[in-house]
Amino acid sequence: MKKSIIAFGVLCCMLASCHSKQQENAAMSDKQENQVINTIMSRRSIRKYQPHPVERDKMDIILQCGINAPNGQNKQSWEVRVVDNPELLDAMKEAIAKGHPTMNPEMAKGCFRGAPTMVFIARDKSYDFSPYDCGLLAENMVLSAWSMGIGSICLGSPVRFLTDNAECIPYIEKLGFSEGYELCLCVGFGYPDETPAAKPRDWNKVKYID
Ligand SMILES: Cc1cc2nc3c(=O)[nH]c(=O)nc-3n(C[C@H](O)[C@H](O)[C@H](O)COP(=O)(O)O)c2cc1C
Repeated sequence: MKKSIIAFGVLCCMLASCHSKQQENAAMSDKQENQVINTIMSRRSIRKYQPHPVERDKMDIILQCGINAPNGQNKQSWEVRVVDNPELLDAMKEAIAKGHPTMNPEMAKGCFRGAPTMVFIARDKSYDFSPYDCGLLAENMVLSAWSMGIGSICLGSPVRFLTDNAECIPYIEKLGFSEGYELCLCVGFGYPDETPAAKPRDWNKVKYID
């Protein structure tokens, strides 16, 4: 009887230690679940959105993350304008169509990729590193948005379409960038209506040099 009680005790100790080992392992894998890395690796450019704009309190967080990006000499060589008024966005698309008579009208209509909230970023033309500042600002916005389930798309083509013709001048003026600034990058935001696959990346472009 005494022997079996001791054996039972030893078994209990073994089971308890096995259980705590499992808990330790689970805790370790939790630590490896890094939210920043997960956000970076799961982000995709979104080109289909639900129609409603991103709530402004959420945009405020995204914009705050944007302006907290690293930037040359802390010059903050960007200016940011947010448009979530569908009528204004439609008018801009119409102006792009009018300004590009040979463009397929569907292309002009889709130039913001259906994003209901558009962010227009201008750069300080007098600072040679301002495109990088604007890019880092955009990336902070894109990643913080995705961490909240908000999709995004960086867009270069509307920069050209909005600045290479007279029809769009009133809209660039309406954005009201300061003297010496020019439109540099557009970023669309909204709730995704698609789940695109990851685009492949070329690891060969990366090398350690000893
Ligand atoms: C500077 C820049 C300009 C871009 N311009 C466009 C664009 O005009 N139209 C578009 O559909 N996507 C545009 N993209 C999105 C890229 O096509 C996309 O990031 C790339 O294919 C990689 O896909 P992923 O973002 O899903 O990883 C642009 C991205 C960047 C960074």
